[in-house]
Amino acid sequence: MRRKLVAANWKMNLTRAGSVDLVAALRKQLDAEAPRCDVVVCPPTVYLEAVAAVASGSCIGVGAQNVFGEPKGAFTGEVSVEMLSDIGSSYVIIGHSERRHTIGHHEDDAMLNAKVRAVLSDGRLVPIHCVGETLGERKESRTERVLTYQIRAGLIDVQLQSSQGIVIAYEPVWAIGTGQTATPEQAQAAHMHIRKELRALYGRIGDEIRILYGGSVTPENAATLFAQPDVDGGLIGGASLKADSFLAIVRAT
Ligand code: PGA
Repeated sequence: MRRKLVAANWKMNLTRAGSVDLVAALRKQLDAEAPRCDVVVCPPTVYLEAVAAVASGSCIGVGAQNVFGEPKGAFTGEVSVEMLSDIGSSYVIIGHSERRHTIGHHEDDAMLNAKVRAVLSDGRLVPIHCVGETLGERKESRTERVLTYQIRAGLIDVQLQSSQGIVIAYEPVWAIGTGQTATPEQAQAAHMHIRKELRALYGRIGDEIRILYGGSVTPENAATLFAQPDVDGGLIGGASLKADSFLAIVRAT
């Protein structure tokens, strides 16, 4: 049985005070409610330690939005797995489309694979590995091929001891921040395909790996998305920036 997970991706938003206030509001409510799913917030790296201090001892896990694929060295501006773990991170998002595609980043599958391997060989963080097709790729009926490629290339030489070691996020690029959510049927079809790939790579462990849906999830559409058999929760952007809407999505699990 896969326990659902709802993760907040705050992206490059909020101030230090705003981040602390938001996690404090979430904690207050979730401490009282004891949610039936796992909850993670991913603040900007510079606020991660302050957010982790507020979340400490609660059910809220803290994650980073990015990491570098080498343990240390002359990599100006980069942050290592150890550094993130040191300041209270237990998850890290890898391969978000805003890093794969956005001008200035262009992280390719080899780089993302190096990041996943760096995280797993260190063993302290859980990668949330993002995959997803662009609108053009969907229109050309290439969704499944793109997902197969991104899963297989991202997980080259990745051995898993347990299904809890990694989380996959299906994030169709056309749905992120656009208000154009995938239908529950589209999401389930993509998740089922990803599940098939994970089973081919990891056998029974693949059945238990959590696959999150991300892309314009709101309190209104969350419950029907999460009700799909292979949708194990969500990665939430815009709707995670307000306590009320994020809590409503957590409750929708
Ligand atoms: P969105 O972002 O919920 O604002 O569409 C999701 C994401 O980028 O993870």
